[in-house]
Amino acid sequence: MICVSKNKSLLKSQNLKIFGQGKLNGIVEISGAKNSALVLLAASLLTNEKIILHNVPRLTDIEKMGNILKNLGVNLIDKNNKLEIDSKNISIKELPYELVNGLRASFFCIGPLLSKYGEAKVPLPGGCNIGSRPIDEHINGLKALGAEIIIEERIVKAKIKGKKNKLNGTHIKLKCPSVGATETLIMAASLADGRTTIENAAREPEIQDLCQMLNKMGAKIYDSGKEKIIIDGVNKLGGCTHKVIPDRIEAGTFLIAAAATSSSITISPVIPNHLEAVTNKLHESGSRISIKGNSITINPRELKAVNINTAPFPGFPTDLQAPFTALMTIASGESKITETIFENRMNHVHLLKKMGANIKLNKNIAYIKGVKTIKGMDLVASDLRSSAALIIAGIIAKGNSKIYGLEHLDRGYENFESKLKILGIKIAREFNNKSCKESKYKIDQEPEEIPKCTAA
Ligand code: UD1
Repeated sequence: MICVSKNKSLLKSQNLKIFGQGKLNGIVEISGAKNSALVLLAASLLTNEKIILHNVPRLTDIEKMGNILKNLGVNLIDKNNKLEIDSKNISIKELPYELVNGLRASFFCIGPLLSKYGEAKVPLPGGCNIGSRPIDEHINGLKALGAEIIIEERIVKAKIKGKKNKLNGTHIKLKCPSVGATETLIMAASLADGRTTIENAAREPEIQDLCQMLNKMGAKIYDSGKEKIIIDGVNKLGGCTHKVIPDRIEAGTFLIAAAATSSSITISPVIPNHLEAVTNKLHESGSRISIKGNSITINPRELKAVNINTAPFPGFPTDLQAPFTALMTIASGESKITETIFENRMNHVHLLKKMGANIKLNKNIAYIKGVKTIKGMDLVASDLRSSAALIIAGIIAKGNSKIYGLEHLDRGYENFESKLKILGIKIAREFNNKSCKESKYKIDQEPEEIPKCTAA
């Protein structure tokens, strides 16, 4: 078992009780990056040799990805935060919908399976609570590499065209710098015949982590982290040992929580330049930030309103937009938060308004007038990052809050409440005897305020 498995229906009957007006103090240890670990697990399908991954966070998303690999015949040994992955006995079959359902990263398997075994059948990952999340960039890129792809009954069926057993290196220009598509195509191209160039590639640190691991496995990938990545295909990839990079989104969430409560904390280990857009905004909003090696200390002062626009790396990460919005609810002045990556990532706004925040939402832009205080209440989170935003709001608020929808939180934050407890926050997971009804998790959205525009 990869992580402490929490049955989804049980998770739905749990909540976090938060005693408001808390303060954080101390040092918090940052876990390995979820988004890196997910793609590194998929990349392990590219070799028959053993991959040893260190610093893998124990999360339900990782558990799901592990179960997908096991279903293909991968032998997975889980020792604390270390995973030993052995893909030598895998059998190629359609990934079952029950396993991929709800895990968008499951689609990553298509690249390695196609390029190593010549075929792959992966169910469409579907949309999610933050937007429709198409996969056209993955599909078009794989086709350019020589794959024949059809979609039948929501299953993406891909195989190498003609009688060849290898994909063909080619030039691909992405329409948008999709993180997932860049990763899918890098993995597919690493075993292709000849050179592939990916232009307008995403530059997120998780992509650099993937390329570093693939290069350790024998791949020839140049310029990851730049807009144009070059991949010279090789015949075979081998095993390696790799340590997952620290989770910059978890790290940013703790920094934002500290700023929101006028608290001083140190986060470690982190790679400070992965967090530059976030620390710059925290600095602009009044915090003092000091960086020493692989740790960052925040010492907040008066909290001022600032504007943010989410953008691909090195811009401000969309995954921290919701927590930053929670922070701005109590900043002095007016801020404008613009979401440019996903079309429906403002689910937290009407909940923050219920708590007393003064926010006007126009499509994907939130106009916030800072208030002195917000009030605690019972709320249901509807996606991963908005659950973190609501917990931060609960910590700031006057009075107590109960945050439901923990199945989202547990997808992406390892031991979140234990870490907050260590920092001095009064927070407890409550287990209700009665299982909550699904309807309880339907959020009464304010339809005119939920943006439906196409993602940037
Ligand atoms: C990854 C991260 C997610 C993060 C996001 C943006 C993982 C597991 N998840 O998601 O946490 O919020 O990057 O930093 O790594 N798009 C298309 N066509 C495609 C693919 C994407 O139009 O084929 C659009 C999407 O709808 C979205 C934008 O591109 O508007 C960015 O999506 P993408 O970068 O692909 O995000 P993910 O890889 O799904």
